[in-house]
Amino acid sequence: MNDDDASRLDIEGFEERSVKAIMEARTPEMLEEQRIRFLGRKGEITEVLRSIVRLSKDERPVVGGRLNELKQRLNALIEERKALLETSDGDEEPFCGDPTLPGRRGWEGGRHVLHRVLADIKEIFFGMGYSLATGPDVELDYYNFEALNFPPDHPSRDTQDTFYINRDILLRTQTSPVQVRYMERHTPPLRIIVPGRVYRNETPDPSHAAEFLQMEGLYIDTDVSLADLKNDVTFFIHSFFGSDAKVRFRPHFFPFTEPSAEVDMSCFACKGEGCSICQKTGWIEIMGSGMVHPHVFRYAGYETDRYTGFAFGMGIDRIAMLKYGIGDIRRFLANDLRFNSQFWTEIWSGVVE
Ligand code: DAH
Repeated sequence: MNDDDASRLDIEGFEERSVKAIMEARTPEMLEEQRIRFLGRKGEITEVLRSIVRLSKDERPVVGGRLNELKQRLNALIEERKALLETSDGDEEPFCGDPTLPGRRGWEGGRHVLHRVLADIKEIFFGMGYSLATGPDVELDYYNFEALNFPPDHPSRDTQDTFYINRDILLRTQTSPVQVRYMERHTPPLRIIVPGRVYRNETPDPSHAAEFLQMEGLYIDTDVSLADLKNDVTFFIHSFFGSDAKVRFRPHFFPFTEPSAEVDMSCFACKGEGCSICQKTGWIEIMGSGMVHPHVFRYAGYETDRYTGFAFGMGIDRIAMLKYGIGDIRRFLANDLRFNSQFWTEIWSGVVE
């Protein structure tokens, strides 16, 4: 085919004009008009096909094949456009918007604030060499209480209003049962954190919920001391709340640790002066802790004269409330997007330029 023939046939021109006309058809009727105009028996394609005879014998099948392909493509395009026009809700107005505007963003979620806080806490402890352990939410009384040195019918159980499933099975009231579960399967040295959901039969109010998150820590080796506990806990508080936080250990009682202490940090709002957040004491309680009680080692099958260790446990909801100034624990599970989305800023700013 010489240039002359090519221009006479002008397949590209035909293709361009027909595709444009099909895409611009705004109604099924307009579309049908274009189909007849280009692909009908007396349409343009017939004319083009007729002009094939002017080509050499060798070229005819090549160009013919190309035209057939084009015909199929145009038919498919028409079908597609037809389906689109028929399903559109009768809105026959041509598009009048600005086609250069960026599209609207789809709805996008973000990480829950509790998840975000937990991720930050985990990161700090991973940096100190702790690894992750988990345990079941539906727990045996044995692990939740007995092996943690809560004697049967002992009043210390009353401090945790338990959801019992039957006499032996309950919803765990703390993440501490994972201590014994983990010790049963591992020999020291071990250093774990255990985040998880816990349940208590509490009447919900701004500072109590029937389910919330805790995180347990456990470190056992041959020479672990109270100084190690103070070191790790203080490092965590400084990393999470800032290095100017003061930390103090206040004697307390937990059945599974001896000695036991509650850990306070200086109030970040008033820097220890005394304000409404710290109830004018200048201190905020952050977690419970202590040296693992020998009875717990015995339940786990450890030699009590060989190992020492410390444990600590903190409420993740509480820490999130302190960090972000949230006044009501019930907000975390209320699924109110107005609340939840306040904490998505990091996600949004990561995506939107
Ligand atoms: N399990 C305790 C609670 O729920 C918190 C706790 C206190 C955990 C002291 C510990 C600990 O590991 O050593 O109140």
